[in-house]
Amino acid sequence: MPGLSDEFIRRIKDENDINDVVSSYVDLRNHGRYSMGLCPFHNEKTPSFAVYSDTQSFYCFGCGAGGDVITFIRDIENLDYLDAVKFLADRVGLALPQDGFDDGKASLRRQIYDANRKAAKFYNSVLYTEEGKNGLDYFKKRQLTEKTVTHFGLGYAPDRWDLLTRYLRKQGFTDTVLLQADLAKKSRSGSLIDVFRNRVMFPIIDLKGNVVGFGGRVLDDSKPKYLNTSDTYVYKKSDNLFALNFAKNEGSGKLILCEGYMDVISYHQAGFTNAVAGLGTAFTPGQAKLLSRYADEVILSYDADEAGQKATKRTLGILSDSSLSVKVAILTGGKDSDEIIKKYGSEKMREILDSAVSSAGYEIQSASEKIDRSTPEGMAKYISNSCKVIANMASAVSRDLYISKLSSETGVLRQAISSEVDKIRRRKINDGKKKEQRQASSFKIQNDAAVNPDRQRKLAWYKAEENLIGMLVSSPELYKDIKDKADKNMFASDADSRIFSIIKTRLDDGRGVEMSYLSADLSREEMSHLSRLVTSRAGLKNTSSEIRECLNTMISEKRKFDIESSGVGDMSDDDFLKLFNRNN
Ligand code: UTP
Ligand code: MN
Repeated sequence: MPGLSDEFIRRIKDENDINDVVSSYVDLRNHGRYSMGLCPFHNEKTPSFAVYSDTQSFYCFGCGAGGDVITFIRDIENLDYLDAVKFLADRVGLALPQDGFDDGKASLRRQIYDANRKAAKFYNSVLYTEEGKNGLDYFKKRQLTEKTVTHFGLGYAPDRWDLLTRYLRKQGFTDTVLLQADLAKKSRSGSLIDVFRNRVMFPIIDLKGNVVGFGGRVLDDSKPKYLNTSDTYVYKKSDNLFALNFAKNEGSGKLILCEGYMDVISYHQAGFTNAVAGLGTAFTPGQAKLLSRYADEVILSYDADEAGQKATKRTLGILSDSSLSVKVAILTGGKDSDEIIKKYGSEKMREILDSAVSSAGYEIQSASEKIDRSTPEGMAKYISNSCKVIANMASAVSRDLYISKLSSETGVLRQAISSEVDKIRRRKINDGKKKEQRQASSFKIQNDAAVNPDRQRKLAWYKAEENLIGMLVSSPELYKDIKDKADKNMFASDADSRIFSIIKTRLDDGRGVEMSYLSADLSREEMSHLSRLVTSRAGLKNTSSEIRECLNTMISEKRKFDIESSGVGDMSDDDFLKLFNRNN
């Protein structure tokens, strides 16, 4: 990134030792030059995640994640580059330089925020005009009060082609901004039209108070029921939650997670201001992380229908990886919380929330919903289903409690249930080990060749260029030995070629090439790749003769493959001579 100086990045790096930073997320065991722990980016039971002190980098031999301390924060906290730098600056009490962290997109981002805010105001004020009467009537029909409409900044996009587009253009926004904000799109004729038309509008507001997108609902039963802003430079659906900007201040440490905008709004209107919802995508691990930043407990309140119950199970799976305590509200008497609140009032809703069951209880219950327990076969099935759920519980205490409960509930000996649970657990642990071995070996293959046929074919070439890059980053003083001869066309892989160009530009300018400096210009994949190259050089001596040898190998391998692909091998001697003459 052009704006942040190397000097500043160096300070961030020097003061955030990678071992310290990683240690607050991963239990690391010191092995001298490096430390190992369980990878936080994939599920594993034996450590393959390594942190190297000398290169200040990490690399997972299981999933291939890798990079420097900034990459680590970017991944684990789900932040973009600049926010990750800010995060690390905050961590050690460094102030960001006032000006100059414009990554080229900052100005576009500001304009998108501004356009979104103006659009939200526009949609809201339309409600109180003739154009917006349908929208306002709709909210009234859904029993939203005026106060609620204002609190959430709800609005209406009129049934016209380009009302908002024209309005925002008049406010000085360019077509690029309107397209990038996903407020306008190109029509078939090429002109811009509004994305949202004839829909009631729900603005989505991030934790800093920016309007980052919208959900728009039809007024009738037509499809699609909701349109949502797609991901933009200021908005990633999978990392946001609707109404978290309000709910995070509620203070109980509990959040209610619902399926939809309307559930959230009616919860808030009824006094449950800790309700949030996903944004038109299935629940994501990023959202789980976000929840755990603002709560200790989550109560799932998805729709009572089959789709809602399926989504509940899926979401429970994702939440089980977090530190959150998770409960499920059993919605009875209506298809969703909105309907229950309207039909029976908030007192009833409170009771339902208070009697939410633990996620394990919910799973046991739903695993055996359709089983008739009055027959011995049904009872056996019920016990076996329940044992499966119990075997999945991570805590030995909970397993023990549920085994006792199941025993007294069914009259089956505690001993019998307990041994059944143990059997399932042993099987599970074995399966897990096998899976891990498979994962690890498939990763090795990826590195070593088969997955990338080009790499396999040109293995010597790839290895030489990978070594060269690894050496340049760990011993940049060797650059002088290859400076005059090396150029980006000598690389077999586009990624290596790009990484080399970036390194070369910096070295030619007399700047450093430590991974932290490079991480601004490289994608996540490129960064993982680079950290593998650097890591594989760790502990090896880098010498002038070796780097020259790498370059020579690259040159001769390239020549070999160039000749092959030019078809020279098939040419007659005459044709070959012609080619030769032309080239000289
Ligand atoms: P629902 O169909 O349950 O809608 O979808 P709802 O929020 O309860 O709305 P009402 O009460 O019927 O008016 C739940 C959520 O799924 C997403 C939206 O985020 C919605 O709030 N969704 C649904 C879409 O993104 N697109 C759709 O077409 C439907
Ligand atoms: Mn619903």
